Amino acid sequence: SITPVLLCGGSGTRLWPLSRKSYPKQFAPLIGQETLFQASARRLSGQANGLNFAAPLVLANSDFRFIVTEQLMAIGIDPGAILIEPEGRNTAPAILAAALHAAADDPESILLVAPSDHVIPDTEAFQAAVARGLAALEQGDLVTFGITPDRPETGYGYLELTEKPDASGAPVKLARFVEKPDKARAENMLTAGTYLWNAGIFLFRAKDIISAFETHAAALVEPVKASLSQAQTDLGFLRLAPEPWVELEDISIDYAVMEKAPNLSVVPFTSAWSDLGGWDAVWRESGPDGTGVVTSEHATAIDCENTLLRSESEDLEVVGIGLQNIMAVAMEDAVLVANMDRAQDVKKAVEALKAKG
Ligand code: GDD
Ligand code: MG
Repeated sequence: SITPVLLCGGSGTRLWPLSRKSYPKQFAPLIGQETLFQASARRLSGQANGLNFAAPLVLANSDFRFIVTEQLMAIGIDPGAILIEPEGRNTAPAILAAALHAAADDPESILLVAPSDHVIPDTEAFQAAVARGLAALEQGDLVTFGITPDRPETGYGYLELTEKPDASGAPVKLARFVEKPDKARAENMLTAGTYLWNAGIFLFRAKDIISAFETHAAALVEPVKASLSQAQTDLGFLRLAPEPWVELEDISIDYAVMEKAPNLSVVPFTSAWSDLGGWDAVWRESGPDGTGVVTSEHATAIDCENTLLRSESEDLEVVGIGLQNIMAVAMEDAVLVANMDRAQDVKKAVEALKAKG
């Protein structure tokens, strides 16, 4: 069986004001009724396409622990374990803790690490890709999923393949992993045509990722082991010990391991995929009408183009007139109005407000 490792620790500041430190984007219904977290958990549950998913291992921070159980219960999924990080230290320590936890049961455990901020409409196609990835585990590879890029995005990792994927979509050996390039490099890689985006979803055996950490990010291993071995059980949550966790470097698995490991394979994934990283992505994924307009309930656009108007309150009507390339999101206590091209800068709003105190 495959154990899903659901990551839901990020705070999603680029989706302010909907996504807050206290209520990050993955727990909000951004598109449709289900939250992104619920959709991710459901995508990796049950038995389908020859796969057999075990109960998920969830990694979250303490503030979200009840949201996590509530949202899983609401869709009838029983979490195998919920690991609580004392403080967010990014994905590398979190994934290492999950792998060590799983390896204590069985070092051969197959883990599928899934972020909870993605939109993947075709579950069947995704599960088929996971099934294709299993072949690469036999040689001890770490598997990533590759998306065909359509713009020089600087918010993603890029995967250089050693050869062109064939029509079967079988795993291809990776030549190089480039995490979050600058604009010029991103443009070069897009033009080169030999790169895919890293979907941020990983498949590996527990023992293989642990040994990759030992080789490429050794400083994390002993402290994470120590926090795990002193973890406390509390109402069904497994709380990692704050010492020495809080001393850990804040680093993503992409920088800590994937950019360095030689044993990477890529499964091309050609169906729709999106990291709902910002409001421009929400706009794109919500299916803009012929003039590029997306409105929510309690929002009205008159003569607008390429515009997202969203009201998160039924007591608040949002009306836009003659707007172009604008996103406006209104909450009861905060309103964002920004140029669509500045979607990545929304995190600056959060920083500016934090600085004001
Ligand atoms: N539990 C836990 N703890 N989860 C975390 C933490 C943490 O400290 N930090 C981040 N996460 C979760 C986020 O909630 C998200 O679901 C996932 O881990 C990935 O983190 P992001 O912060 O969203 O990463 P990213 O989008 O900037 O970059 C990654 O994903 C891209 C594709 O979406 C990288 O893997 C890129 O290479 C990749 O292209
Ligand atoms: Mg992300």
